[in-house]
Amino acid sequence: MNQPVMGGVAALLNVPAYIKQQKLINWVAEIAALTKPERIYWCDGSQEEYDRLCGEMVAAGTMKKLNQELRPNSYLACSDPTDVARVEDRTYICSNTKEEAGPTNNWMAPSEMRATLNPLFDGCMAGRTMYVVPFSMGPLGSPIAHIGVELSDSPYVAVNMRIMTRMGKAVYDVLGTDGEFVPCVHTVGAPLAAGQKDVAWPCNATKYIVHFPETREIWSYGSGYGGNALLGKKCFALRIASNMGHQDAQAGGTGWLAEHMLILGVESPEGKKHYVAAAFPSACGKTNFAMLIPPTTFDGWKVTTIGDDIAWIKPGADGRLYAINPEAGYFGVAPGTNTRTNSNCMASLGSDTIFTNVALTDDGDIWWEGLTKEAPAHLIDWQGKDWTPASGTKAAHPNARFTVAATQNPVIDPAWDDPAGVPISAFIFGGRRSTTVPLVTEARNWVEGVYMAATMGSETTAAAAGQMGIVRRDPFAMLPFIGYNMSDYFQHWLNLGEKLGKVNAATLPKIYCVNWFRTDEQGHFVWPGFGDNMRVLKWMLERIEGTAGGVENIFGTTPRFGDLKWDGIPFSPEEFETITSIDKDAWREELKLHDELFAKLAYHLPTELTAVKAELEKRLAR
Ligand code: GTP
Ligand code: SPV
Ligand code: MN
Repeated sequence: MNQPVMGGVAALLNVPAYIKQQKLINWVAEIAALTKPERIYWCDGSQEEYDRLCGEMVAAGTMKKLNQELRPNSYLACSDPTDVARVEDRTYICSNTKEEAGPTNNWMAPSEMRATLNPLFDGCMAGRTMYVVPFSMGPLGSPIAHIGVELSDSPYVAVNMRIMTRMGKAVYDVLGTDGEFVPCVHTVGAPLAAGQKDVAWPCNATKYIVHFPETREIWSYGSGYGGNALLGKKCFALRIASNMGHQDAQAGGTGWLAEHMLILGVESPEGKKHYVAAAFPSACGKTNFAMLIPPTTFDGWKVTTIGDDIAWIKPGADGRLYAINPEAGYFGVAPGTNTRTNSNCMASLGSDTIFTNVALTDDGDIWWEGLTKEAPAHLIDWQGKDWTPASGTKAAHPNARFTVAATQNPVIDPAWDDPAGVPISAFIFGGRRSTTVPLVTEARNWVEGVYMAATMGSETTAAAAGQMGIVRRDPFAMLPFIGYNMSDYFQHWLNLGEKLGKVNAATLPKIYCVNWFRTDEQGHFVWPGFGDNMRVLKWMLERIEGTAGGVENIFGTTPRFGDLKWDGIPFSPEEFETITSIDKDAWREELKLHDELFAKLAYHLPTELTAVKAELEKRLAR
């Protein structure tokens, strides 16, 4: 059946009989002919394969096996110190025209980019194994799911993809003889000459994370870390998928959304259940919010997780929006996570977890800043060096992460795997802002909500290479992830709201803007955050149900002190004032930043948004 292809690589191919798609086989052969791996390995997604690849990485020094009693079936991988986060300045959207990528994305003409990449990929896998990694984003065979195949020379990628996606043999049954897949090519960019000894974490100083939206291809060169290398995540499920959802609308379909959002279920003591989706920039609290444990005084309130990072959202015929989590695992920030801030998360990490760039304890377990009040007396830090509390350096990298299956989450929602998705009652947008932005604001309508999301600012974090703590505009928390023109994306959101509102205005999701991160003069967070975010979530639910009070201000509706439930914490009206007050001068400065953003996005910027801004300015002048 499987015809021999491309002479030289034919001997390497050795295609498993269960693969029935010639187009896929030809593509694998073509990429192998270009990248020239020593071997080709077809991943089947089995536990046996996972254990074997991890074992090989332990032997190669890429991973350490953790103490089997303390942390069963778990590993620590430490990356090269230059390969620790997403590289936004090396990330490209190569649409046919620069306008389609828009002013927030790096762009190069597709032909020019192909000419740049071709010599880099030529022979890039020499001396290595090329892993063929078939995966489904979303439940296998679901009408909202999409399939990808990643070819990678990194076994670390193969095992992480098994946790993060539905990866393995069963994907080929869905693909059949002519099913569509997004081709993803990944290399660490470190070919080995004959006899050359490998390093623990191969990578290349030159990096390219490239998307061709027209042909739906992803090409990644030079990094083995996170979103740079696990191509189902940011590259496919956000950049390519957001473009697909927009293209669908352009072609006359209903259109859909791919968002940097967690999805959670929240149930009241009366048994009323809602699902909300919340967008926060990288390392700003999505995982924590998605697994929130209500304060003990919130008897009967339950929060359950659908997803912690990405949502695919499609309109239903009833005018509601239905969301799925396209992922199957969490690639979450380790530092700051502990039993007090997120004990559900800690419980998830008890076994079968891959840790990357955390510190190693003397008894073969893991540690990171914030895990315990007191640091252990001795550790091996993420760079493999001896560490003591006197070292004055961080034992774990600030962007150290864990990879764990969603099914290990003790509060996973029963519907997390439902191919139909869950109906969304509200959208929440939150940045990391030490000043200016109040605790919570409800938009008066969809357009005002889109304005809030579009103009959101946030302080940069360790999730991306570059300077930390700089306030930048991060529209919809999608600045590094949007796969097309940002202004067209705003318009796409406006159009969708208009369409849904016509079907049923009553079920159109409410939109909220939150900020957990306001600080006092000493720089301490004033809002306790974490489980106490339940207080804000409860208010939102009661607003949706029409039972909670609030007061209108310049930007929308906010709760008064008495509108939130305070049982269980000593939080004073004065403290509440510190995090909810609106400083008009600060907001005049803030609006100048909105102006700057809108000037940058002038091409195709929806006029509805400039109209909202004019109204804000009027109210601010009063
Ligand atoms: P990505 O995976 O990078 O997209 O990020 P995420 O949004 O899932 O980040 P995560 O939830 O892992 O956030 C990690 C950081 O946010 C840690 O430093 C936490 O301590 C901090 N954090 C999370 N929730 C809160 C909160 O409610 N208040 C405060 N002050 N910090 C929080
Ligand atoms: C983020 O940076 O938003 C992440 C981690 O979720 S990564 O997958 O590395 O992009
Ligand atoms: Mn993320």
